[in-house]
Order: sequence, then structure tokens, then C-alpha cells
Amino acid sequence: MSILVLGGAGYIGSHTVYELIDGGMDVVIVDNLETGYAEAVHPKAKFYKGDIRSRSFIDSVFEQEKIDAVIHFAANSLVGESMVNPLKYYDNNLCGTKVLLESMVAHGIDKIVFSSTAATYGEPESIPILETDNNKPTNTYGETKLAMEKMFYWTSKAHGLRYVSLRYFNACGAHMSGEIGEAHNPETHLIPLILKVPNNQRENITIFGDDYDTKDGTCVRDYIHVTDLAQAHILAVKYLMDGGESNIFNLGNGVGFTVKEVIEVARKVTGHPIPAVMAERRAGDPAKLIASSAKAVEILGWKPQYADLETIIASAWKWHSTHPNGYKK
Ligand code: UFG
Repeated sequence: MSILVLGGAGYIGSHTVYELIDGGMDVVIVDNLETGYAEAVHPKAKFYKGDIRSRSFIDSVFEQEKIDAVIHFAANSLVGESMVNPLKYYDNNLCGTKVLLESMVAHGIDKIVFSSTAATYGEPESIPILETDNNKPTNTYGETKLAMEKMFYWTSKAHGLRYVSLRYFNACGAHMSGEIGEAHNPETHLIPLILKVPNNQRENITIFGDDYDTKDGTCVRDYIHVTDLAQAHILAVKYLMDGGESNIFNLGNGVGFTVKEVIEVARKVTGHPIPAVMAERRAGDPAKLIASSAKAVEILGWKPQYADLETIIASAWKWHSTHPNGYKK
């Protein structure tokens, strides 16, 4: 079976490629290397450098390769950046997906799994969050991901392709081998920023707000290991191969940790005191985001293996302590 992974040189994409190849599948990667890294491309995958917004490029990949299903990670994904430069997100996330879908329809490729996000919900109505809850994104990133889901929905009605949308909560951690990991530039995510302190790249970690209605006043998030996310993509491909209908699934552990708890676990894992300083709330942060992943467990048979936060942070530390500058030498 041959899987086309769009964005396979990025954080979640590269981890998914490693799991696909370990599972004996043939993998073709497309990435424009705007936010991905050539070093994250698995040596056994076939790699095409290019942009999904180019119809002739994506057509040429489908013409050269026999693809059974597509996994689509090729998008911009920083909430803050999406508020400063919204049209970049409409262009890459929506225009890219439109060109991709046109090409898939033209080439008769009818199965796709793609990255969505908890940001499609906005401020949650209740916890844990269910797939049937209302979607009211509070940032451009979440809005473009929700629009992508709708684009798939209407295209599936008209052209009969089937899709699975996976709404990730807080992706984190790194491959257990330490070979690949998280490398964003700029980095905005909590765990990699915390780990810059024991790596001597920051003096302290800033906590954005301690006056939320949570047990210690700091925000609660559902942290999910990147390899568990990767496994869910493989299960979703199998589900579509077995004739499953188009569907949407949340992916999280169903357990929330506060920012202070995450810092405390990082202190334990690294043996470093990691000083923390308090700051104002970051605009747009909901107090609590916790997934119900019961649907993915029941329908896809998904079972996260690395649910323990200490294991997650230890895997991230293995990567960051040996790659303090990410993929840069
Ligand atoms: N935080 C800090 N200090 C920091 C960085 C983050 O206190 O230096 C806090 C944030 O305020 C938040 C928590 O740590 O409460 C987690 O923040 P991240 O930036 O790591 O992650 P988010 O929850 O903001 O974002 C995640 C995904 C997004 C997705 C979003 C949905 O990374 O892709 O959830 O709301 F859009």
C-alpha cells in the first residue's frame, strides 16, 4: 500500500511517516520545506519537494506514483501568526487544499486523512469536548481548519471521496528513538519553551495568566504524544480502506494538566529547577481544553500508548537535549 504524506517533513507529518514505514507501508512525501526540514524526511520515503498550491506539481506526483490514500498535514499552524497574517493562512491552508482536492478528483484518488484541530471549537461549551459540540473558532488558524473540513464535506458529497478529519488537542513529545522531534521557528508551544531553560537557552519560563478558573489558576490542556497522533492517522487510513464513511474524531488523552503541573513534571524529568515568572494572560487562550476521544477509541480502535505526562516530557527532553537547535547543525 502506498500512502502520500503531504507535509511529511513537518513535526506531526514526520512522526507519522516513521510509523507508516515501521508498519511496512510505502510512503511518498510532498513538502515545500517552508516549515518542514529535509533532515526529518525518512530515508526510506520517496521525497518530492514542492507546493500543493501548484496544480501542475501535484498532478505530476499523482501521475508518477500509484497512491492508495493521502494524509494531509501541509498547512500553517501557528495561532498567533494566523492573527497577524490571516491571508497567509487562507492562502496556504485553503487554497492549497482546494488545488489538492481538484487534483485528487481528477486522478480518481478518493481517500484522505487530514489534520484538524481543537481550535475549531473555540471557547468550549462543556468539558470534555465532543465532536458534536459547536464550532466557533476564535482565531484564523482554527477558522481555516474548520473551512477545510467543510471543503472536504461538500467535495465528498459531489465527488464521492471519503475523508477523516482528526482534531488534535496539544501535540507534544518526540519519537522514542530521539531521531526526530519538534522544531518550530518561532517556537510558541509550552513544552519546547520550558525545555529551553534546562538547555541554557532561556533563563525562565513565562506563565501566561494565573487567574483562570482552574485548580491552580493556570490554563488546563490535554497533552497528547505525537506518536499516538501518528498511530491514529494509520488507523484512520485503515478505516477508510475498510469502507468507513467520512468522519471527524477528536484526539487527546482526556486528561488535563495545568501549566504549573507541566512545569513541575519538566523539573522532575530534567532535574533542573526551571524558574517560572508570571505574566498577563495570552489573548485568545481558553481556560480549559480537554478532549473526549471516546469516538476514536470506539470506531478507530485507537489507544494512546504514551499517555503519561512524564513519559511525554522525557521523550521531548531526549530530543531537545541532543538537538538544542532543532535540525540545524
Ligand atoms: N503557555 C505559557 N507560557 C508559554 C507558552 C504557553 O504559559 O510560554 C501556556 C498557554 O497560555 C496555554 C498552554 O501553555 O495555556 C499551552 O500553550 P501552547 O501554545 O503550547 O498550546 P495551545 O493550547 O495554545 O495551542 C494548542 C495547539 C494549537 C491549537 C490550540 C487549540 O498547539 O495548534 O491548541 O486551542 F490551535
